[in-house]
Amino acid sequence: MDKEQETIELLKRYNQNHIVNLLKKLDGIKKQELLNQINRIDFEQIMELYDNTKKKIEIKENKIESISYLDKAKLSKEQKERFDKLGEDIIRNGKYAVVTMAGGQGTRLGHSGPKGTFKLDVYGKGKYLFEILKDNIEEANEKYNTIIQWYIMTSKENNQETVEFLEKHNYFGYPKEAVTIFNQSELPLVDTEGKLLINKDMKIKEASDGNGGTYSSLRASGALADMKNKGIKWVFIGSVDNALLKMADVTLLGMAIDKNVQIASKSVVKANPHEKVGVFCRMNGHPKVIEYTELPEKMAEEVDSNGELKYGESHIMCNLYTIDAIEKASTEPLIYHSAFKKNSYIDEDGKEIIPKEANSYKFEAFIFDAFEFFDDIAILRGKREEDFAPVKNKEGVDSPKTAKELYEKYWNKQNKK
Ligand code: UTP
Repeated sequence: MDKEQETIELLKRYNQNHIVNLLKKLDGIKKQELLNQINRIDFEQIMELYDNTKKKIEIKENKIESISYLDKAKLSKEQKERFDKLGEDIIRNGKYAVVTMAGGQGTRLGHSGPKGTFKLDVYGKGKYLFEILKDNIEEANEKYNTIIQWYIMTSKENNQETVEFLEKHNYFGYPKEAVTIFNQSELPLVDTEGKLLINKDMKIKEASDGNGGTYSSLRASGALADMKNKGIKWVFIGSVDNALLKMADVTLLGMAIDKNVQIASKSVVKANPHEKVGVFCRMNGHPKVIEYTELPEKMAEEVDSNGELKYGESHIMCNLYTIDAIEKASTEPLIYHSAFKKNSYIDEDGKEIIPKEANSYKFEAFIFDAFEFFDDIAILRGKREEDFAPVKNKEGVDSPKTAKELYEKYWNKQNKK
């Protein structure tokens, strides 16, 4: 059997006859590209993920406990100085890198481009989210007399637009040789019958595999090897859409070193016991971010002897890892979650269908699902007004309007100091 016939048999085995038909209609380079793509896809994995969407989620008996954290505002002077010194040494010595996850689709914001190219309307002139991040790394560079390596993860979908944008703006003055842009991996989209969607370009439609894909994509893209070559020991991974994200917090870094842990995270306390955010806990002995939907109501309201919420530390995508921790997370398989979404596709007659309702599953891994591979995590509670101004929704909570207010309030205060 020749290679093409083998591919056809594979497609039939996985009930993908519509792709067999598509192959018959194509020739030349288009056909070869589709064949190459099919041979890259792990159909066994995709079918397993699809089958899981049909299964009822089993709620396992998990042992949930609270997890310890330190409040940055309550550290003693001596403790803070010790942490800061440890953190500073790493950054000053060029052993620190920053990763920005910019591969998301930003569907809720509805901006017609990569999220980092969204201009937040601050101080009249406005600032792009990428520019705000650049300002933050640059501030650390000046403070610690270094140039931090900046890695930006894009999706295949938004890579070109991101690169063109950053080139056009000359990386907002950041030294170009210290910026590395890499792509994250993708997974096919699957309809309700387990059939892979076809894209306008006559290929199988794929989408980025969630921010949990950061670890394996760092490895696959060569960025992890590059970090090792450069002697990087600690890696910060953060989101593209938090206008107050602090990417080089020496207190957080020093606390992780002092505690001798491999991972660390900045949290902010929940606005109220029922805020819809994931919070840190210990599950079956390991660090974990538990979704608000999975946290029993009684636990959500529970307070400790100081009157603080026992499960009150929310995860804000502000995470720190040793290079060994990235290595470990990049090789361990993460669980995929499925999201039922609206995705356009090409039907068997070659017509583009734009669905009005959700029609297909997207599979995503979450960055925090890797925490359970570790025994411990250092959690530092920051402050909402200093650390968290997310740009998620078009309007209302966590929108450009709320982020602008938080950003300006923070900077007005800093400038007065
Ligand atoms: P979100 O999960 O909030 O997704 O991403 P999003 O794409 O920004 O927005 P929605 O849900 O479509 O409205 C949190 C961070 O993870 C990145 C995002 O770019 C953001 O920085 N991310 C998300 C990726 O890098 N890749 C992904 O596949 C998903």
